[in-house]
Amino acid sequence: MSTGAANAKRVTTHTLQEMKAQGQRISMLTAYDYSLARLVDGAGVDVILVGDSASNVMAGHETTLPITLDQMIYHAAGVVRGSSRALIVVDLPFGTYQGNSKGALNSAIRIMKESGAHAVKLEGGREVITSIQRILTAGIPVMGHLGLTPQSIYKFGTYVVRAKEEEEAERLRSDARLLEEAGCFAIVLEKIPAKLAKEVATSVSIPVIGIGAGNGVDGQVLVLHDMLGINKEFNPRFLRRYADLHQVITDAVSSYITDVRSLDFPNADEQY
Ligand code: KIV
Repeated sequence: MSTGAANAKRVTTHTLQEMKAQGQRISMLTAYDYSLARLVDGAGVDVILVGDSASNVMAGHETTLPITLDQMIYHAAGVVRGSSRALIVVDLPFGTYQGNSKGALNSAIRIMKESGAHAVKLEGGREVITSIQRILTAGIPVMGHLGLTPQSIYKFGTYVVRAKEEEEAERLRSDARLLEEAGCFAIVLEKIPAKLAKEVATSVSIPVIGIGAGNGVDGQVLVLHDMLGINKEFNPRFLRRYADLHQVITDAVSSYITDVRSLDFPNADEQY
């Protein structure tokens, strides 16, 4: 482990609650495998989300819908093995919790038992509240997710900013209250106006983590591959790139190919 995270105490849902109370911002990033989880955890991020965005960035699917529960558990188990400090939250994939609270509970239990993760996240408000309530009865912490919910992309038809109109904004406000009352420990707000996100964050007592939701919330989350600049094609306004790994990796691989072709690699020191 590279930095101050080694030997640090594990972040819990209570830590996040305290951070909100003290006005300390929460950092959250996705990771889907052991090696990158080690780096992200070692750098000191508070929460690692094993997002169903793995369906896009790891498997190359167009949407998050195809990824399965078994695949999410496989990704999550590697992330848990690669982390010692961050709270690990795992997305319940599409089709494993909607319209069936018993199925939702079984899915959440499988994630907790088979990956060793610490919490689950699922998308939606009132329409999935019975699933959330049932998962919570087993003592499994639940993170909500409102605003742009990518598992409903075929209902929305587009990835544009959500809740710009008052009717949808009001529904989001009341869904956030519902999630808080049900006992969710935090809520992700994705791609909604900053003013609305701030209003929600100040009106609920649980931490609100934003992505494309401005700076008035309690923390931020980004997809790791996007912020590291591995993907060139995805350029939403909310994304800040902290590296250009696309270029770094392309240059490294090109140099390797050149060295192999020119017989420069391996040299005398690189053989037995
Ligand atoms: O799956 C994911 O990566 C997410 C984040 C965008 C919040 O849900």
